Amino acid sequence: MILVLGATGKIGRSLVPALLDAGAEVRALTRDPSRARIDPRAQVVRGDLDDTASLPRLLDGVERVFVLTSGHGSDGAAQEAALATAAAKAGAAHLVKLSTTGVYFGQTDPISTGHARAERAIREAGPAWTILRPGAFMDNRRGWLQSIRAVGAVYGPEGDPASALVHVRDIAAVATLVLTTSGHEGATYELTGGEALTAEQQVAILGEALGRPVRYIEEPHDAARARMLAQGWPAAAVDGSFELKRQSAGNEDVVFDTVARLLGRPPLTFADWAREQRA
Ligand SMILES: NC(=O)c1ccc[n+]([C@@H]2O[C@H](COP(=O)([O-])OP(=O)(O)OC[C@H]3O[C@@H](n4cnc5c(N)ncnc54)[C@H](OP(=O)(O)O)[C@@H]3O)[C@@H](O)[C@H]2O)c1
Repeated sequence: MILVLGATGKIGRSLVPALLDAGAEVRALTRDPSRARIDPRAQVVRGDLDDTASLPRLLDGVERVFVLTSGHGSDGAAQEAALATAAAKAGAAHLVKLSTTGVYFGQTDPISTGHARAERAIREAGPAWTILRPGAFMDNRRGWLQSIRAVGAVYGPEGDPASALVHVRDIAAVATLVLTTSGHEGATYELTGGEALTAEQQVAILGEALGRPVRYIEEPHDAARARMLAQGWPAAAVDGSFELKRQSAGNEDVVFDTVARLLGRPPLTFADWAREQRA
């Protein structure tokens, strides 16, 4: 049995069916099963990682765990440390942690340092481990779709760097491989797409997929911050994401060949992703 954390999230939505298709038994975690749309072949469990007393129940009979905590809100590193300890106690054999390339690059923004702490907890817990460190997700660009629909334009923060965005299905495919085959214990994999694209190039690709031009408008930092706060982002998450952006600016264009090496095919492209967003 594989316990999947973040089963309703960007990666989890692809990972759960991929694991089931590979023949695995899956226990999918969500805080609210009534709202979650999870593949019916999975065993859905209600649980909150902040409720550490519930961990033995969630981990009962589990052999491997896909460890993903949310990048904002609760303290992900504390959740992962508690989870790792409980998983070791429950006899789990293998923990596969979703981290970030920010750790590879030694970034000191709050998201990267939280993942660095969590990686240590996972490595030291006892069970075998594998660390997956993706760069920025193509799915982050879903934040653009509303303004494209409303005004045919994308607003991006000044100086947004070229980025080797990765498709979440590729992350899920690597996670599936690591969780269902042996030989990845003790490995750390950086995961990106196959090419770095500037925001303008990404917008042009989206325009092509939609069949109409989309404008790209650079926003000064203060205006971007105000817009995100007005959209309901917590201030700490907004500032943490700007700090991450500032620190990752020189790193986001680095392309790793890990996806192609592990999967034996090229990574999905931003054009693939753009076509999937057309509707
Ligand atoms: N976005 C990027 O570009 C990027 C790049 C590199 C790494 N990452 C990392 O990827 C991870 C996922 O981030 P994301 O933004 O894509 O989030 P996400 O996976 O789309 O959503 C968060 C997931 O966490 C679950 N969750 C949240 N709080 C929980 C709790 N207290 N107990 C149990 N489950 C909880 C949610 O499930 P329910 O709501 O169903 O409970 C949801 O499935 C983060 O660690 C982030 O740092 C992101």
